[in-house]
Amino acid sequence: MEAKATNIVWHEGHVSRAERESLLAQAGCLVWLTGLPSSGKSTIAFTAEHALAARGRLAYVLDGDNIRHGLNRNLGFSAADRAENIRRIGEVGKLFVDAGILAISSFVSPYRIDRDGVRGMLDPGEFLEVFVDTPLEVCEERDPKGLYRKARAGEIPGFTGISDPYEPPENPELVIKAAECSPGDAAQQILELLESRGKIPTHEESDP
Ligand code: ADX
Repeated sequence: MEAKATNIVWHEGHVSRAERESLLAQAGCLVWLTGLPSSGKSTIAFTAEHALAARGRLAYVLDGDNIRHGLNRNLGFSAADRAENIRRIGEVGKLFVDAGILAISSFVSPYRIDRDGVRGMLDPGEFLEVFVDTPLEVCEERDPKGLYRKARAGEIPGFTGISDPYEPPENPELVIKAAECSPGDAAQQILELLESRGKIPTHEESDP
């Protein structure tokens, strides 16, 4: 997106990211959950946040439905609005990463180009794409918010999975088969990913 403001100068702080990360004993990163509506993204994200807190690690969930109540309340579900939704979350996620926090985002983010745009905003290894791979039939059967039913009835135009596309990731860092495991097991897979990428200490490193 083209910048509108001119005459602005970046101001460096006096505390480095490395100092923040050392205070927190972790490395900031953005765990990007993507998948169909009702695939289990938010449940997994909040379960992972809780499991990380239990291990003394600071994580924070950026959730699609929640953020659309505030920061992104002026956006709908056209391809252009979804792109802007994801771009803003990418920028917010980037601030969290700089703060040294384990940001976990939960957005349908159906378009590959938008997700790749966020990957491109961050340094290599900071963006961890997690595909919550739940079959459409299972999402539709769950339908906790009744939105698939409304979409089938033609009451929600452009609903992802029914009348709007979902483009699965081609090379995600992790695929979670959420219909085949519990939210706790799914969260554990995320913690293992964070350990294997050196973002959090392993159990052995934290309690030698
Ligand atoms: S995204 O496509 O821009 O990434 P986001 O994750 O923020 O979507 O919001 C998706 C949530 O909005 C869904 O979980 C669902 O509750 C709701 N929603 C409402 N309308 C739609 C729609 N047309 N397509 C997908 N989700 C929708």
